[in-house]
Amino acid sequence: MSQSRVVHNQWSSRLAFLMAAVGSAVGLGNIWKFPYITGEYGGGAFVLVYLLCVAFIGIPVMMAEILLGRRGRRSPINTMRELAAAERASPVWGLVGWGGVVAGFLILSFYSVVAGWALDYVLKAALGAFDGLNGQSAGALFQSLTDSPRRLLFWHSVFMVMTMVVVANGVRSGLERLVTWLMPMLFLLLALLVGYAMAAGDFARGWHFLFDFDFARVFQACDAAGQCHFTAEPLLVAMGHSFFTLSLGMGAIMVYGSYMPREASIAGSTVMIAVADTLVALMAGLAIFPLVFANGLQPASGPGLVFVSLPIAFGAMPGGQLFGTLFFVLLVFAAWSSSISLVEPAVAWLSENRRMSRGRASLLVGGLAWFLGIGSALSFNLWSGDAYKVFGKTIFDLKDFLTTNIMLPLGGLAIALFAGWAVGRRLSEEELAMRSPRMYGLWRFSIRYMAPGGIVLVFLNAIGVV
Ligand code: TRP
Repeated sequence: MSQSRVVHNQWSSRLAFLMAAVGSAVGLGNIWKFPYITGEYGGGAFVLVYLLCVAFIGIPVMMAEILLGRRGRRSPINTMRELAAAERASPVWGLVGWGGVVAGFLILSFYSVVAGWALDYVLKAALGAFDGLNGQSAGALFQSLTDSPRRLLFWHSVFMVMTMVVVANGVRSGLERLVTWLMPMLFLLLALLVGYAMAAGDFARGWHFLFDFDFARVFQACDAAGQCHFTAEPLLVAMGHSFFTLSLGMGAIMVYGSYMPREASIAGSTVMIAVADTLVALMAGLAIFPLVFANGLQPASGPGLVFVSLPIAFGAMPGGQLFGTLFFVLLVFAAWSSSISLVEPAVAWLSENRRMSRGRASLLVGGLAWFLGIGSALSFNLWSGDAYKVFGKTIFDLKDFLTTNIMLPLGGLAIALFAGWAVGRRLSEEELAMRSPRMYGLWRFSIRYMAPGGIVLVFLNAIGVV
C-alpha cells in the first residue's frame, strides 16, 4: 500500500488546467530558444522537423503524461511507482519520476539565468536604453550584461525567489491567478510585433527563412576549410526542442495532470496546448527574423538573438519604450509560469513523502537550483574559457544539451512505453474517455509504435547508426 499522501489540490476548473499547462509550455523556449536555434540550424527544414515532432511525438506523449498523472493523483515519482505496482509492472518505472526531478533542476538552473536577462531588459527598456540602437550597439548592450557575473547572478537570484514564492503558495492560489490574464496579453503583444516586423523589417526574407524547406542546407555541417558533410544534429535538436517547448518528458505536465478535474477532456486540452505553444513560437519567429535581416544581424548569432534584434525594433518604433517594457515584462511572466512547473514534481514529492510544508520544500528545491545556476551564469564570463569546457561546451550549453536533447526524449520514450505497453489498455481507455473508439485506437497506435519508434530513430541517427 502507498505510504504517500494523495495530492488533493485541484485546479478550480478545466480552464484553469488549460491555462496552467499553456503557461508551462509557453515560455523562453518559444520566444528565446526557438528563434535562436532555428537561426543556428539554418531555418525552414529545421522548423519542419520540429513541427512534425510536435504533431507525431509530442501530442501522444503529452496525452500519456496527463492521463498517467490524473490516474495517479500524486507526484510523478509516486504516480509512476504506484501505477506500476497496480498494473503489475516493474518498480523500475519509478526511475522515470526521479529522472524528471533531476532534469527539472538542471533545466531551471539555466532557465533562470536567461529569465534574469529578461528582467534586466525590463529595466533597460523602461529607462529608454534602446533609443537609437543599431545592430552593433545592441550587441554591445547585451554583451555588457553577460560580461558581468554580478549582474547575472543578481537577476538569477531574483528570478529564483520569484519562482519559489509562487511554488510555496501552491499551484492553485499561486499559479492560476498569474496565468489567466497573462497568456492573452502576451499573444496580443506578439501579434503587434509581427505587424511591426511586416511594416519595418524584411518580412519576405524572414518568412522564407522560416518556411522554405532546404534540407540539403540544414543537414550539412561545413568546417572552416569549406568541407561539408551530412550531420544529424539538427534532427536531434529539433526533436529535443519539441519536448522542451511542450514541457514534456520530465513529469511537469504529469504533475499538472494530477490536479486536473476528472471531467475535462485530455485529448482536447492537449491539442489546444500544442496549438497555442506552436503559434507563439512561430509568431516569435515571424517577429524576429524580419528584423534580423533588415538590420544586418546574423540568424546564427546564438543565445543573444532575441535580446539583440528586438531592442533595435523597440528603439526605432513609436511608443517603443512602452512596448519594449511591456514585452520584456510579459517575457518574464511567461518564463515565470514555466519555471514553476520545472520544480513542481520535486516539491509535490517532498510534500507527499517527507511531509514537508510547501514553503520548506520550495526553499530547499530553490536553494539547490540556485546553486546549480551559478555555473550557468559564469559560463558567459569567468568560466567561458576552454579550460572550463566539457566536450567543447560551456556548463550552460552542456546542461541545455544534456537535458533538452537527451534526458527529455529519453523520459518521453519511457513514458510512451509505460503508457502504451506496461499499463493495461483498460486504464488508458477509461482515463482518456474519448468519444470515438477510432480516435482512441489512433492514440494507442501512436503511443505504442509511432512515438517510441520516432524517438529511437532520431537517437540512432544522432549516433550514426541509421
Ligand atoms: N516549456 C517551457 C518553455 O518552452 C520550459 C519548461 C517548463 C519545460 N517546464 C518544463 C521544459 C518541463 C521541459 C520540461 O519555455
